[in-house]
Order: sequence, then C-alpha cells, then structure tokens
Amino acid sequence: MGKRSTCHTPDVSIRLPDPALVVLVGASGSGKSTWARQHYRDQEIVSSDELRGVVGSGRHDLDASADAFRLLDDIVAARTRRGLTVVIDTLGLDPERRRGYRDVAARSDLPAIIVLFDVPAALARERNAQRDRPVPAPVLRAQLANAAAVSDELSAEGWDQIVVVRDHLAQTPDTRSAPAPSEPSHSGVDFVLQISRFPWGDDPTGWLKQMALAAESAGFAGIALMDHLIQIPQVDRDWAPIPEPWVTLGLLAGMDTGLRLGTLVSPVTFRPAGITAKVVATLDALSGGRAFLGIGAGWWEREHDAFGLPFPPARQRLTELERAIELIRALWAPGTKAYTGERVTLPETTCYPRPVSSVPIIVGGSGERRTLQIAARLGDGCNVGSAEASLRHKIDVLHQHCRQAGRDPADVAVTVLDVPVTGADRDEVRARVERLRGRTKAAVYAKTHHVGTFAEQRERYSRLAELGVRTVFLAPPHLTTPEDVLAIAPIVRR
Ligand code: CTP
Ligand code: MG
Repeated sequence: MGKRSTCHTPDVSIRLPDPALVVLVGASGSGKSTWARQHYRDQEIVSSDELRGVVGSGRHDLDASADAFRLLDDIVAARTRRGLTVVIDTLGLDPERRRGYRDVAARSDLPAIIVLFDVPAALARERNAQRDRPVPAPVLRAQLANAAAVSDELSAEGWDQIVVVRDHLAQTPDTRSAPAPSEPSHSGVDFVLQISRFPWGDDPTGWLKQMALAAESAGFAGIALMDHLIQIPQVDRDWAPIPEPWVTLGLLAGMDTGLRLGTLVSPVTFRPAGITAKVVATLDALSGGRAFLGIGAGWWEREHDAFGLPFPPARQRLTELERAIELIRALWAPGTKAYTGERVTLPETTCYPRPVSSVPIIVGGSGERRTLQIAARLGDGCNVGSAEASLRHKIDVLHQHCRQAGRDPADVAVTVLDVPVTGADRDEVRARVERLRGRTKAAVYAKTHHVGTFAEQRERYSRLAELGVRTVFLAPPHLTTPEDVLAIAPIVRR
C-alpha cells in the first residue's frame, strides 16, 4: 500500500480510494448517515443504528447494541475479505473499535480511511432537536466533546487518509447524480466510439444508423469498427453478428453526420494491401473526407483458418504491415507515376477515386521492437492499450523510435483503446460489473478493468491526456441501444 498520509484533508470533493474501508466519525446529528447515502450504495454502508433495527426493536434499541455490533463486525470482515468497499456508519468515537477496523483493512490490503464530521455544536444540537427521537442533551454534549478530542488522536493512529467534512461541504454535489452541464472542462482528448457488438435484432440498418446518430449527438468525433471475421471471445459469442466493417462504414458514410469513420484495426492478412487502399479511398470519397485506416498485423489464427486465409508467422505479418502501409501511401499519393520505394515497386499508381483528405493511418499494437517502430516510421498514429501503468513506457518507446527515424514525435498521434465498465452512478456501475464479471470476484474484476462512474472515467481520461494521448477509442461493453450511447455523453462532451 502507498505512503501513509495522516494529514487532514479538508475537502470531501476529493475522490476517496475505492475499494476502501471507510470509518465515519462524528457526534449524533453531524450528518454521517446523510453523507454516506450521498456517496455510497446502500449495500456498501453498514450502520449500527440500522442493525439495531434488524436485531432489536428499532434503531434506538440500545439493548440490542452488542448484537448489532457483532453483526457489524461480521459484515465488515466479510466485505473486506472480498476486497469490497465498506463504510462503517457508527459514532466512530471508540479507539479500540477503530483499531479493529484498521487491522481488518490491513489484512485485506485495503486503504483505511477516516471521514471526520466537524459540525458546529449549535448545528448538531439544532438538528438533534428536530429529530423524532433526539439524543438526550448531556449525551450529545459528551459526544461533541469526545468528537473534538478524537480529531487530534486520529493523526497518530496510522490511517491511510483522513478527510474532514465540514457542514457546507457535506452539501457538495451528490456523486450519484449525473454531472451537471457546468462540469469540469473537457478532459483534453477526442473520443471515437468503437462499436464492437451488434445486437441489432431484425433491423441491422436501422440499428446502425440510430447508433451513429446517437454517437454524434453524444459528442463522439467518430465511429470505429473492429475488423474480425468471427466475433472475438473477449466481446461476445461466436455466433453473434460481426459485420464486414468497410461495407458497414459505407452505410454510415451515406448519412448526414460529421463522424469520422474507420476500422480499429484491419489486419493486413485479410485483404491485399492494394484492395485496402481502394476500399479506404472510396470510403473517404463517399464520406467527404472522413475516413481513417486502423491497420495491424492481425493476431487471431482461428478466423484465418475458418475463412481459408493464410496466417504466416508474426515476423512475416509485421513485414507485410510495413509493405502494406508503403503501398497504400503510394496509391494515395497524387499522380499515376511509377513507384519505387523501400519494399514496394509498382509500374503505375492509378487509383481513383483518390482519397479527398489525407487519411490518417493508425498502426495498432504495442510490440515495442517492431510494431511501435513501424508506427513511428510509417504511421500517423499508433493505437495501444489504455492501462496507465504501461502507457508512459510505450509512449517513451514510440518517441525513441520516432527520433531514430528522424520524425517529430508530435506527428505520430497516440491513441488508445479503452473498455470502461461505467455508468452514471455507483449502482449502475455495480450492476454492470455483476453482469460482466462471470466467476471473477467483483474486487478482482475492478482491479483488472477500468471500473468507475462517468466522473471517475473523465478524471482518468484527463490523466491520459496529460500523458500525451490524443484520441480515446471508447468501447464500453454494455452498449446495446442508441439510448446507451446517449447516456455516456457526460464522459464525452466538452
Ligand atoms: N442533515 C442536514 N444537512 C446535512 C446533513 C444532515 O440537514 N448536510 C440533517 C439530516 O437530514 C438529519 C440530521 O441532520 O435529519 C442528522 O443527520 P444524519 O446524517 O442522520 O446524522 P448522523 O451523523 O448519521 O447522526 P446519528 O449519529 O444520530 O446517526
Ligand atoms: Mg446516522
């Protein structure tokens, strides 16, 4: 676990680590339960009051306290053992109990966090007076004194983080509600929607068009399609439809949108490079200059076998990738003259229609020795995974290759494919994780996938932008309908 920070952070708008064990501390009426409900799902909160109601006659049945706390400890242990967030809603004033929570968190390697509720005594009294069952005045007085004293002890206790909620801050926007239109500025990247599943029922054309219209109104700069012959196991079943992408993009090209259209990515093993040059030039002409070409070495042997296509070894495929880019560029260059280059010789380059724009060629794959070198030498962009841990390094490698090839690194755009499990609020995110995780534990799934609300994803994209990413190809696995596309607008919109 990271460096311990025992400083008091006087701001709840900072995002707490997640998953985490979160202990609320504050006198009665300081707003603990209200804050917990605003920031967490009901099932993530374990409250001694609620458990008194479960095992006793009601929330205020003090005789039921021992049973309620036994249950509370069980629930805390069970959730932390699974690596799940738990928010402990008790007064939090007992140092022995706090030590117990820290130990439990440490055993599961979860960050242990205090959220301290610092309200003026008068406000706590006023709120208390308005409640159905006010706490007796002397009890509240003792709690308030105790809470003030505890505030000093906490720093010495070894919490990973201590956050202080002051009352006006308790009113900060609910993280469950969709971000307001005045949300923080654009995260600094362009978003292209990658459609990877096609649950189009009996209306493929209608579904595709509606998806495109939704993508445009959600603020996407373009649409990318995978280029596969069989649906890949990472996405769906073998028999789920996966249309030929360039034909499909031709349909979208005929619509009245400004969306950029291309593949992510076309394997060089599928079509002779000259045909790809022809196909993409045609798409660019039909779409008024909106085409892009994602291209890579291909990786999935099975689809090649199934369709009777050769699948040569990786070395050979990468060489073909170099040859293909060179040949495509030759056929797209002005004029019809003969071409002689590094790997390609053509007696003429008569390819009409020519593309009407300078179609970007994005090289997919993050092999450091060859693929990134090919991107650096021949690409307008590269496409790599979005995991931050490796991204910085990949970009360094790309830039080294650029310098060796005498190219300005700024001329090779860094793009990433990102598959976020996301939703408007924690409930929606959790429901999607439950649907997708299979037999993987939810906490493990969250560690190996980009799981988080729209707001959390936006923060991540801002960090990617700082690393130098220019375009995010976004492929949220839950997208089924145009409404799903519209709903992710808060991630995308400037
Ligand atoms: N409240 C409020 N404004 C806030 C927070 C709370 O008006 N920013 C009100 C709540 O509506 C509630 C009362 O203050 O009527 C107490 O808030 P609650 O969250 O229930 O406080 P707790 O700290 O959970 O109190 P207890 O320890 O008694 O459960
Ligand atoms: Mg409460």
